Amino acid sequence: MLKTNEVYNMDCMEGLKLIDDNSIDLVIIDPPYLLSINKLKHPNLFNNYANELINLKDGFDMKVLDILVKKMKKINIYIYCSKRQVQGLMDYFIKKNCNYEILTWHKLNPSPLINNNYLPDTEYILFFRDKGVKLYGNYHTKKKYYISGTNKLDKIKYKHPTIKPLQLIEYHIENSSKEGDLILDCFAGSGTTLVGAINKKRNFIGFEINKEYYEIAKKRIEEAKMLNGGANEKSSN
Ligand SMILES: C[S@@+](CC[C@H](N)C(=O)[O-])C[C@H]1O[C@@H](n2cnc3c(N)ncnc32)[C@H](O)[C@@H]1O
Repeated sequence: MLKTNEVYNMDCMEGLKLIDDNSIDLVIIDPPYLLSINKLKHPNLFNNYANELINLKDGFDMKVLDILVKKMKKINIYIYCSKRQVQGLMDYFIKKNCNYEILTWHKLNPSPLINNNYLPDTEYILFFRDKGVKLYGNYHTKKKYYISGTNKLDKIKYKHPTIKPLQLIEYHIENSSKEGDLILDCFAGSGTTLVGAINKKRNFIGFEINKEYYEIAKKRIEEAKMLNGGANEKSSN
């Protein structure tokens, strides 16, 4: 079993082989979205930000879901996804008889995409759990929607084009795990889930394939561990 409370610079398909089956309490992933960014249709959108998204727009290998299901003690997973991924993910987990929730993150200042489209102001977070998996949290953490800006400041500070709001990730953690539980994020990006786990006294394992993002996540983790008085004390069982 891999050492916990670390992020690894690995392709998750390789990294997941090193994790014991039935060992993970909660998975939070934000895999590459399946986006249809069309340079010709939206020449104005093709600024630096959109160019960075090119690397992250091709979706992910759905085979990872079969592996994640084996690694979790019970299915308990949040998946950030684009509209085009919703159907595949719903089909996959409903066949497994899971309960589900469709959560949303609404952005107050989306890019002004006009033409023949609605604004890109909503992201989807699908939550699936086996029957019997408990939900904790409170009135605030359990809202199905979250409203914020597009977190431009985080994007600049942590140099990741699709960084997610730490507070929202912390809500998922509070709602769906207990102190000392083991959380996995195998598409860690700048490490938001892993920082959330540290702040909420959970254990974690992260994988990030891109060396540059991995270094950013590693640094954020070290800072969060310092701020929280060292590594997490509670062990997973
Ligand atoms: C949408 S971003 C995650 C952003 C993250 N939630 C955050 O707040 O910073 C997806 C990340 O998955 C990484 N990735 C893509 N394929 C991967 C793979 N096979 N194994 C591990 N990481 C991968 C990308 O490099 C990218 O940083």
